[in-house]
Amino acid sequence: MDKKEKAKEKREKRRQEISLLRTIPYSDHQRWWTSDTIAVVTGANRGIGFEIAHQLGMHGLTVVVTSRETGVGEEAVKVMQEGGLNVAFHQLDIVDPSSLKSFSEWLKETYGGLDILINNAGVNFNVGTSNSVENAETVIKTNYYGTKNMTKTMIPLMRSTAAGGHIVSVTSRLGRLSKLQNDELRKKLEDVDKLSEELIDQTVESFLKQVKEGTWESGGWPQTFTDYSVSKLAVNAFTRLMARELSDRPDGQKIYINCYCPGWVKTALTGWAGSISPEEAADTPVWLSLIPDKFVTGKFFAERREINF
Ligand SMILES: NC(=O)c1ccc[n+]([C@@H]2O[C@H](COP(=O)([O-])OP(=O)(O)OC[C@H]3O[C@@H](n4cnc5c(N)ncnc54)[C@H](OP(=O)(O)O)[C@@H]3O)[C@@H](O)[C@H]2O)c1
Repeated sequence: MDKKEKAKEKREKRRQEISLLRTIPYSDHQRWWTSDTIAVVTGANRGIGFEIAHQLGMHGLTVVVTSRETGVGEEAVKVMQEGGLNVAFHQLDIVDPSSLKSFSEWLKETYGGLDILINNAGVNFNVGTSNSVENAETVIKTNYYGTKNMTKTMIPLMRSTAAGGHIVSVTSRLGRLSKLQNDELRKKLEDVDKLSEELIDQTVESFLKQVKEGTWESGGWPQTFTDYSVSKLAVNAFTRLMARELSDRPDGQKIYINCYCPGWVKTALTGWAGSISPEEAADTPVWLSLIPDKFVTGKFFAERREINF
């Protein structure tokens, strides 16, 4: 068997494993959610976000589909409603503070808050390892700062229920710490007890400074899709930081926060060049946000398994 055939066989085996995982049912005693459970999904008009919203709806939750453009978001909602799902729409651009404000006011007024947040919205403009200043800024602003601001805005709105609140951010294995060749920075980011928002902000700002100066290539940053990888590395670190900060909330107000890598997925973001479908990619965040084991927090997942940061 040649290399190409071997890779094809491996992909097929993985596809079968994933579809097997997707058939695992949630038994009644594990089912903590009802139709009153509110799940918010960002960037849910297409791709993985659409599928996460769809699958949460299929599990019987009320899903708030959000998108930065109203027309495409309403269209996505219409498709899900025609399938009998309990889905609502609201406009949300995660990098626009006024959009974030009107969304959170609407959410509080309409539902009193939320139980599940899926931070899915993201961008990627990479071709090879090149970084234009503008693209790098947009990627960091959307993927890191947008996700961070969304999370911080939603935390006070998370409803106090026995099951606690659940936050899942869509990141990537490209943002793993092992991709950092700058040993000093990697050691700092590995130390969860010392992790701080300032350190994560400084990390992305120092990357952007080097992109502007044209010196980023010798900065020890991840080699592939560098700006995208740095943005996801920052969200991974932010997830661990928030898990630490949220861990001492009293019972009944627990919030569990994790992140996951969907794999290489056939969506607009990869030019539909991925190896798995958005349906398959949506499985882990849905499982993770409905998981009955309430003590999972501050972890990184892929294909329903914990992986290293
Ligand atoms: N596809 C992969 O192989 C892969 C791998 C690892 C991680 N991911 C992550 O998975 C997530 C979903 O990506 P995808 O593959 O499904 O790509 P996609 O089809 O391009 O979807 C991205 C979604 O994010 C939205 N978005 C972008 N900027 C936004 C903003 N400022 N505010 C609100 N929404 C915004 C997009 O809205 P518009 O339609 O308005 O552009 C779109 O709905 C991203 O976080 C991505 O980084 C994807």
